[in-house]
Amino acid sequence: MRVVTSLLLQSLAVAASLPKFKHLVTFGDSYTDTESVWDGGVPWPVYLAGYADLTLHPFARAGGTCSDKVTTLGYPSVMESQIPDFESAKLQLPQDKTVYTLWIGTNDVGPGALLTGNFSGKTVVDTTKCAVDWVRVMYDLGARYFVFQNMIPLELSPAYAVDAYPSVIWHTERNTTAFHLGMLELTSAGNAISELLLRDLAPTLPGAHIAYFNSHGLFADMCHNPSRYLNGTAPLNVTGAANACVYELDGGPVGGACPPPVSGSDRDSYLWWDELHPGEQADRVVAREIAKALAQGDTQWAEWIS
Ligand SMILES: *[C@@H]1O[C@H](CO)[C@@H](O)[C@H](O)[C@H]1NC(C)=O
Ligand SMILES: *[C@@H]1O[C@H](CO)[C@@H](O)[C@H](O)[C@H]1NC(C)=O
Ligand SMILES: *[C@@H]1O[C@H](CO)[C@@H](O)[C@H](O)[C@H]1NC(C)=O
Ligand SMILES: *[C@@H]1O[C@H](CO)[C@@H](O)[C@H](O)[C@H]1NC(C)=O
Repeated sequence: MRVVTSLLLQSLAVAASLPKFKHLVTFGDSYTDTESVWDGGVPWPVYLAGYADLTLHPFARAGGTCSDKVTTLGYPSVMESQIPDFESAKLQLPQDKTVYTLWIGTNDVGPGALLTGNFSGKTVVDTTKCAVDWVRVMYDLGARYFVFQNMIPLELSPAYAVDAYPSVIWHTERNTTAFHLGMLELTSAGNAISELLLRDLAPTLPGAHIAYFNSHGLFADMCHNPSRYLNGTAPLNVTGAANACVYELDGGPVGGACPPPVSGSDRDSYLWWDELHPGEQADRVVAREIAKALAQGDTQWAEWIS
């Protein structure tokens, strides 16, 4: 009882100490990119900026990994490209009214990278240390408020399901059970490590406030309880994709072209836009839940660990 009370007081104290934010600075990959958009609609940072009345400064880029020194698919990484872009922009942002977010890992752990052993000697420990180091690097650049979004349960996405079909994500021969289990290990281990590393780092950064956003838990809940989140006009669907496209093994789309995506209000029935990317309604949920954490402190899916 006393523990519960003190936890409650602690979370109320966090909420009371949070400022009214005015600026949102985003880093990450295609999940967060606002120029090359992959959710079939409006991306989550734009929704969050609207829900919480924030000015958005977007630096996330599709295909990005955390660092080219660990894994790279040749797209702009957080460390070697996105942070330098942020520095070059020379934004004059008020320290106490700006929140910085990072959602990274999907490409780092994916095929062509860790899942298929393409970076000899590199493991999920390295990619996770890199992601957590983003907090330290941005702190040194003046950031004080952070939202660290952990990896979603990629193993539940159409790309890495046990019965996954060949898709744009991967269409050479593979053992889908091994991919599924490998992805389960990578996201579970990476998230456990990032949480521990952040709790270790937080006390060394005076004045830093770090929210750990449990994307993994939120997306697993969307998979298991879709009617709480999805609201389109088609039957709710958490295993397929609104813009699904089956490939020939080692070839292109079956029949020579992808079928047209699901359209209109049916789209909001799908958790996934394509085999790897969350759809627009899932992105609205992400935005809504982060907006809650910025306004209220701790929530079901976010914990301010400092
Ligand atoms: C990853 O490694 C496999 C096996 O060696 C190779 O076939 C593939 O081309 C590599 N992929 C990338 C993106 O380097
Ligand atoms: C696929 O991988 C699973 C899990 O590692 C293994 O049990 C199974 O034997 C593999 N199947 C084939 C055909 O290699
Ligand atoms: C979900 O969507 C896929 C298309 O990606 C479709 O093949 C499948 O039948 C749908 N499942 C349900 C339960 O509607
Ligand atoms: C689903 O809910 C969102 C709010 O979360 C709303 O913006 C959207 O229009 C709804 N979709 C449909 C098809 O009603």
